[in-house]
Order: sequence, then C-alpha cells, then structure tokens
Amino acid sequence: MPSTPRPSRPSRRRFLLASSGLLLAGRARGLEDRPAARPALAIQGGEKAVKTAAPRNVRWGEPERERLEAMLAQDSLFYWKGPQTALLVERFRSVCPLQHVMTCSSGTAALHIAVAAAGIGPGDEVITAPVTDMGTVIGVLFQQAVPVFADLGASTYNLDPADVERKVTPKTKAIIAVHLAGNPCDMEALKALADRRGLVLIEDCAQAWGARYRGRPIGTAGHIACFSLQNSKHVTCGDGGIVASSDERFGPLLQRYGDKGFDRLGKTGLFDAFSTNYRMSEPQAAVAAAQLGRLEGIAAKRARLGDLLTEKIAGTSGIDPHRVRPDDRCTYWFYMLRVRPGAFRCDRAEIVKALAAEGAPVSAGYIPVPLYGNPVFQRHAFFAGRWPAKDLGLTAMDYTRVTCPEAQAILETGVRVSIDEAMSEDYVLSVAQAIRKVAEHYAA
Ligand SMILES: Cc1ncc(COP(=O)(O)O)c(C=O)c1O
Repeated sequence: MPSTPRPSRPSRRRFLLASSGLLLAGRARGLEDRPAARPALAIQGGEKAVKTAAPRNVRWGEPERERLEAMLAQDSLFYWKGPQTALLVERFRSVCPLQHVMTCSSGTAALHIAVAAAGIGPGDEVITAPVTDMGTVIGVLFQQAVPVFADLGASTYNLDPADVERKVTPKTKAIIAVHLAGNPCDMEALKALADRRGLVLIEDCAQAWGARYRGRPIGTAGHIACFSLQNSKHVTCGDGGIVASSDERFGPLLQRYGDKGFDRLGKTGLFDAFSTNYRMSEPQAAVAAAQLGRLEGIAAKRARLGDLLTEKIAGTSGIDPHRVRPDDRCTYWFYMLRVRPGAFRCDRAEIVKALAAEGAPVSAGYIPVPLYGNPVFQRHAFFAGRWPAKDLGLTAMDYTRVTCPEAQAILETGVRVSIDEAMSEDYVLSVAQAIRKVAEHYAA
C-alpha cells in the first residue's frame, strides 16, 4: 500500500538555523532583512568556515634531548662558565648581535636587570605601554621608581611617540618600548626622543623573538634589550630570560645585576652593587639553546601567516587589521584585529562567539584592563599594601586618575586570533574566510 505523504519536517540543520536565528534576533537587529543567498553562520547551524582543527604544535624533541644529555654529562649545572649557557649566548648573538649578554630566570628578571643597570632609582619615572604583561613594570616598581603610562597607536598597539613625549618630565629617566605581539615599535621616533631628552631606551622584546625593525634584529635599536623564554613565547625553556646591550655604560653591569650584585670578573670579591638572584641554570640554558636553533623557522612562518591573514581580511568592512609597517617583520606572538564601533549590528562578544562557532581560534581582547586599571595600581599597594615612593613624597602619581583612551579602546574592540608555526596557509585562509563571513553577516 502506498504510504500517505506526510507534511515535510524541517531538517535538523534548518531547525537549528531557524531557532538560533530567533535567539539572535533580539540582539542583532534587522537580521531577517539580510539577503537569503549569504551562507548561514555556523552559530546558526550553517557550515563552518574552518573545517579542520589547528594542528598540534610540537615544540621540542631531538635537539632539546641532545642538549639535555650533554648537560647531564657535566660536573656543574651552574651558569658561570657553563657550556650550555655559553652556547645559548652564542646562539642569542646570532639572532640579536649584542655584545654583553646575561641569561636570567625570566623576562621580568631581564627587565629588572635592565632598569637597575640603567641606574633607575627611587622616584625616577619610566614611560611605558599600559597594554603589556605586568612583568614590564615589576622591576621599575622594585627600584622604587614610577611607571608612567603613555597611550598607544590605534592599530599597531604600540607606544605612540607623541604621547610618550607629552609624558616626559624632569624625573623621566627611561622609556620601555614594548614590541607587543611581535610588532616592532616606531624605534626611530622613540630613539630620537630618548637621545633628545637624555633617556635610556629599553626594549621589551618578550613577545618579539625574531622580529625585525627596518630589517634589523629586534633589540638592536635601543640601549638595552630584554627577552622572555617563558613557556608561551616563540622559544622557551619553561621560564627564562635574556638581557643584552652593546652600550658600554650598561652592558658591563648586566651580569652583576642578575647575580646578587656580584661581579664575577672583578678581582676583589666585594659587592659594589645590590640586586637579587636572577640566575638561569644550565638545564634551562640547554633547552633554550636548542630552541634558538628553531627560531628563524618559527619567526619566518608566523610572519608569513600573520601577513597573509592581513592581506585576506584587508578591506573587510568594519574590521581593522593588525598594522605592521611595510619594512618591519612582525612575528605575531598573536594577531589582533579591531572591530570598528558602530560598524556591526551586534557587539564584539557576539562576533567572537560567531567566529568561534566557525572554528576560528579567537578570543576577545588581550588583558582585561590596562595595567594601571588593576587593583594593585588603583590602591597603590605594591609593597605590603603600601608604596614607599608615594609615602616618602617621591611621586605624586595617582593611578586612579590615569587614562589612556586608545589603549582602553583597543582592549574593548580587539579580537585576538591565535597564530602558530604549525598552522598551514590553507588553515589561515579559512580563518580569514570566517572573519569575512561573520563581518559581512553582521555588517550594519
Ligand atoms: C611584553 C612582556 N613583557 C614582559 C614579560 C615577562 O616575561 P616573563 O613571564 O618571562 O617574566 C612578558 C611575559 O608574558 C611579556 O609578554
């Protein structure tokens, strides 16, 4: 007996599409007006733009094992005259040719050694970026000096030299230029300013391994360069850092400021400086030396993938790509685009959700608030709830009154896209497609 035709039931995909569309309708005004031909978003049950998961990034193996075995055959694991440390320094110089190099326990340590060697002391002001890791300013605060925050460029996310200049006072002693996400700062402008005002220019290259400023290795345009080897960085030994300088005023001091103030080349055995112990041991140096052998491959691949993403999303309405000057190499510790306020019928959170549903490796913003917005700054509570520099009248700084409007806007409108060297160009092309698809869908 022929079966009676039943009223057709919507497919699961169409059901999801309809129901999530209803859900979104309240938040995204006018969705029903969009032309029907546009591909459905994955968040509404449509097909994902990114069809494969990001490949696992295998970051260490045989070269690290070889170095660790060589290290285990040694009689000493101490850094001074250690062969792993010597190899790490040699390899570091091949990527960043600076004369005086001190290995240390973290990027935070490298920055503290740098500010100490630069002679930064109580009440001195150091101008830096408010969108960075806390490690950029920890050393400044430990010297009882005062971090002063300058605003950022809207799409480079790096220090705006004009605002740095506005923040210079007679107390300013140094600038810490943070090459955020591996994008070189405008070093020409910052160096000119530093030279004009007699300031030390310290480069925070923690996120910028392998980057190039106008073809030159990152870290070579300022007076002192600081790198991090923490686990998330391009190259790592779990935790570690390097500080280096070719400036004869600062370079010879780096070793002692990382080693309890002890000058191991000096003949007297007496302490003429005061600092903590920031030494890196041979096991870390062994891994870091092997990792540096991988750096150029990692840096070149990340640079290519990030630039490819920019090329493919350029011109997408409402999206501002991560801007890199044409003669620089950014090594994209992360990629960050911005969504232009008012350009979309929904907010950034909705866009990030839709992109994640497409399979894109994205998240909103970077750090929750600029550094000065953190409770420890708002309460000036750096040392057991107090701040001696303020209590003693060495500074009138009041972080509750600091604002850097562009920095705040960057954190509110940024969408971070993960980039790593294991990704293929095809994968990045599909991420770009996801961005265009979602942006077009929600375009106001
Ligand atoms: C820009 C920047 N500066 C400094 C640091 C501090 O480095 P570490 O974590 O090795 O102390 C980091 C680490 O995240 C960083 O990203």
